[in-house]
Amino acid sequence: TVPTIDLNNGVAIPQLGFGVFQVPPAETQQAVEAALEAGYRHIDTAAAYRNESGVGAAIKSSGIAREDLFITTKLRNGEQADARRAFDNSLRELGLDFVDLYLIHWPVPSQNLYVQAWRALEEIYTEGLSRAIGVSNFLAEHLENLLAAGGTVPAVNQIEIHPTFQQRDVAESSRRHGIAVEAYSPLGQGADLESRTVTSIAAKYLATPAQVVLAWHLANGNIVIPKSANPDRMAKNLAAARLTLDAEDLAAITALDAGGRVGADPATADFTQL
Ligand code: A2P
Repeated sequence: TVPTIDLNNGVAIPQLGFGVFQVPPAETQQAVEAALEAGYRHIDTAAAYRNESGVGAAIKSSGIAREDLFITTKLRNGEQADARRAFDNSLRELGLDFVDLYLIHWPVPSQNLYVQAWRALEEIYTEGLSRAIGVSNFLAEHLENLLAAGGTVPAVNQIEIHPTFQQRDVAESSRRHGIAVEAYSPLGQGADLESRTVTSIAAKYLATPAQVVLAWHLANGNIVIPKSANPDRMAKNLAAARLTLDAEDLAAITALDAGGRVGADPATADFTQL
């Protein structure tokens, strides 16, 4: 079974979940059904992915009790000025009456709306419509700005982290404030699985390269949301929760940090049209 992490409001989040970024809307229901079948209970989507309804359909058809699931979705960049309406839309798409975690997807510094949007998320939280609220892609300066404005401390900051792009400065500044770190693209969208360091450690443990990278994340306290379209890899990735790497191997993976961002830069990313 997958370990949980207690967020700063006491809500427990499964440390390993299934991410549906880049899962085509028409394939999402089937992929999430397969993930739930494999044993995942934490699903991470976003309004911008346009696949919330597929996630919702899979939840419904699974018959799994709502309290046994942890569902995250995110506020679209173009809707930061009307976060409440966007949230209500997400609930409708998901077919749910609450989510477990709602995130501001990107800071979009050029809009200067994220503090205003955070007030709407606080209301959503106070009303019990999301069990926790947080942010995504926030650099240290955006976090400082949000915290300086007062109010609820985000429960998580979901950022790109994988062996070749660790953002240790952002992760550390998040944790210092009690904000849990969620790693997206935890496998570097697959690229980090080619590393000789990773493949040789995998051979030593009779594990897959993806299991090694995921075990490294879990040992570092990251919440991870790997994506796979393949049911066999979904199951193997989930089984990484049972793999413990020794300190020397963890250090060898940590030494791979190289500035290899695969996603967008939060300082400039806009995506308000998505
Ligand atoms: P696939 O969907 O064919 O399994 P990330 O989560 O970092 O974005 O990485 C997702 C990418 O990594 C996808 O292209 C996925 O391909 C691939 N991937 C996921 N799990 C594995 C695995 N266990 N082995 C190899 N590739 C994987």
